[in-house]
Amino acid sequence: MKRIFSGIQPTGSLHIGNYLGAMVNFLALQETREAIYCVVDYHALTIRPDPDRLRDRVRHVGLGYLAAGIDPEKAILFRQSDVPEHAELAWILGCFTQIGELSKMTQFKDKARQHKENVNAGLFTYPVLQAADILLYKAEEVPVGEDQAQHLELSRDIARRFNNHYGPTFPEPATLLSQAPRVLGLDGEQKMSKSKNNEIGILDPPEVIQQKLRIAKTDEARQRRTDPGEPTRCNVFTWHTFFTPDAEREELAKGCREAGIGCVDCKKVLFERMNAVLAPIRERHEELKAKGWEYVDQVLLEGGRKARAIAGETMKEVREKVGLLPEPGGGA
Ligand code: TYM
Repeated sequence: MKRIFSGIQPTGSLHIGNYLGAMVNFLALQETREAIYCVVDYHALTIRPDPDRLRDRVRHVGLGYLAAGIDPEKAILFRQSDVPEHAELAWILGCFTQIGELSKMTQFKDKARQHKENVNAGLFTYPVLQAADILLYKAEEVPVGEDQAQHLELSRDIARRFNNHYGPTFPEPATLLSQAPRVLGLDGEQKMSKSKNNEIGILDPPEVIQQKLRIAKTDEARQRRTDPGEPTRCNVFTWHTFFTPDAEREELAKGCREAGIGCVDCKKVLFERMNAVLAPIRERHEELKAKGWEYVDQVLLEGGRKARAIAGETMKEVREKVGLLPEPGGGA
């Protein structure tokens, strides 16, 4: 069975961009692959979050995974920092990564622009840690949104370079994109993102979703209800692609083009369809929350134990290949 790996940062609440871009694939793949999913708290340190808040966010994202339908009986779900081998392998792989390559990463350039006052080395080497996450488990496929494709390309380059130097060790991990690799936000322009304040949370209460949809950008050409619109230019219509069955969507497109329906009508249908997908997630979230944090903590802990067993095997091999002792303190 192929092994896959993916991760989510504990920097905010999960939104429908995360859900459609990555989690939909996480859910499908836990049925057919050996799936390993992670809450990447080492990565979150680049922005120096408040310590208590970070611990809290990790639990919330863990709970979010479970509410969305990740089943700990089928997939390993764990906290990155429970497996310190991630940081160890990142150091080694950093010696196989060129500064020039890291300088080209668009996510680094964006973040460096956003946080001019704190362009730290962690932000710069972030993609190396991401490569370590994946290669530590010798994952063959990585389900992600399009914004992570460049990081994955680098992961493949690093794997290839390591293999060329020390002999076959890591598979070159393939990128698995979903049907919605780049979900735009409420502004209809930028990628939906925790940091851009343009998101619909997967746990947002129905009235909040309704409110957000009310302000969501539609086709600019439709200033008045009587102006005909063009669904292919409308971000709200794009969202219908993921939530609304084909026949109903065709009807809406026709209505929009003929000005038979207004944007308000179209958004109303979207709300109902979206809510039908999100309501069970909210319900599961409430159920799991009622069990107390112990449940989430237990799942993450148990997942961490399983992950660490795999990571330990890889590190033994890697340490030996690069000329360290196979285990700290000897172990030969
Ligand atoms: P993060 O936490 O920003 O996002 C988690 C996943 O959601 C996808 N995503 C989107 N997909 C489509 N449209 C959007 N608007 C959208 N916003 C987010 C992301 O592509 C991602 O798949 N660096 C990663 C976390 C990471 C990782 C890894 C991923 C760390 N190590 C190893 C894969 C493998 C990140 O910041 O994702």
